[in-house]
Amino acid sequence: MTQLTPEQKRELICQALQARQKAVAPYSNFLVGAALLAKNGTVYTGCNIENAAFSPTNCAERTALFKAVSEGVTEFTDIAVVGSRRGEINELVSAPCGVCRQALFEFCGPELNVIMAKTADDYIEMSLGELLPLGFGPRNVL
Ligand code: THU
Repeated sequence: MTQLTPEQKRELICQALQARQKAVAPYSNFLVGAALLAKNGTVYTGCNIENAAFSPTNCAERTALFKAVSEGVTEFTDIAVVGSRRGEINELVSAPCGVCRQALFEFCGPELNVIMAKTADDYIEMSLGELLPLGFGPRNVL
């Protein structure tokens, strides 16, 4: 369960919306931004980065996660995600894809609060455990 106030959630969503502006998505024209809040209070943002060969494309959530982990930060409480076609506000919230759920599960486990937003004031929240039930993680292997 997240400890964030509604105003803090709004702020995290705004950071995801800002990160979305950096999306490199000439092929899908679907722009995604993410803002990942670390336990130490630092926010790592990310956008989707597409590639002409398609499969090297990186999702916004993993861009944010890898930025954090590459700086030695591995504990997180919340992530805000916003995605929509260029120039549009989505009718659907954009939930993390299966690969991103798995990547987040590695570091966050089921407790991570996932804020999936259309706008700063219109969002739903679910835990990563709800989005990825029985997630396969380090505890299964180590
Ligand atoms: N995308 C994300 O950035 N995050 C997701 O969780 C779903 C998909 C991106 C990948 C691709 O650049 C575009 O959205 C369309 O799939």
